[in-house]
Amino acid sequence: MNLIVAVDKNWAIGRDGDQLVYISADLKRFKALTTGHTVILGRKTLATFPGRRPLKGRRNLILSRTPGFVPQGAEVFSDLDSLLAAAPEDAFVLGGASVYHALLDRCGTAYVTKIGRAFPEADCWFPDLDARPQWRVEEESEPQEENGLHFRYVTYRRQ
Ligand SMILES: NC(=O)c1ccc[n+]([C@@H]2O[C@H](COP(=O)([O-])OP(=O)(O)OC[C@H]3O[C@@H](n4cnc5c(N)ncnc54)[C@H](OP(=O)(O)O)[C@@H]3O)[C@@H](O)[C@H]2O)c1
Repeated sequence: MNLIVAVDKNWAIGRDGDQLVYISADLKRFKALTTGHTVILGRKTLATFPGRRPLKGRRNLILSRTPGFVPQGAEVFSDLDSLLAAAPEDAFVLGGASVYHALLDRCGTAYVTKIGRAFPEADCWFPDLDARPQWRVEEESEPQEENGLHFRYVTYRRQ
């Protein structure tokens, strides 16, 4: 499986249940990479999407143990094993923190947007792949910039 994530300088990924920042070029890339694929996400990440609705053009597999939580257009799984049994190899893990931690070792490729800023108010993090020898940088984009925010696209592959 693959995963896709945007991290700050300290591998922080969110605050107060939302993203640290929205970068429109990154959102376009996210859409291009994930459209046509299955996506895997936790209930709290679904709540950050517009209208709290599943993503169009993708099969949405949601992890939740909340009774009666059945968003239209998504499939809900109350445990990892049943979700994994339904997930194809080309699925993308979209987060959030709890789902990345649970599925990192199942992923072979990580599409990481590295934001060149630290957000001290962050309250959740992604594991630092640079500190994990099994993850190697395969590709790194030129530096990008949007509204004064600098970022790079870094693709990691698990050895
Ligand atoms: N920067 C990025 O690229 C990025 C991407 C995605 C998310 N985020 C951020 O990450 C934060 C959310 O992360 P989070 O860890 O708080 O929430 P999350 O992983 O999105 O969702 C957590 C919920 O998923 C369900 N869940 C997780 N593991 C489960 C399991 N093994 N079995 C059944 N259900 C399971 C539970 O739902 P129930 O409570 O319903 O049981 C749990 O409360 C937000 O700040 C968001 O903006 C950042």
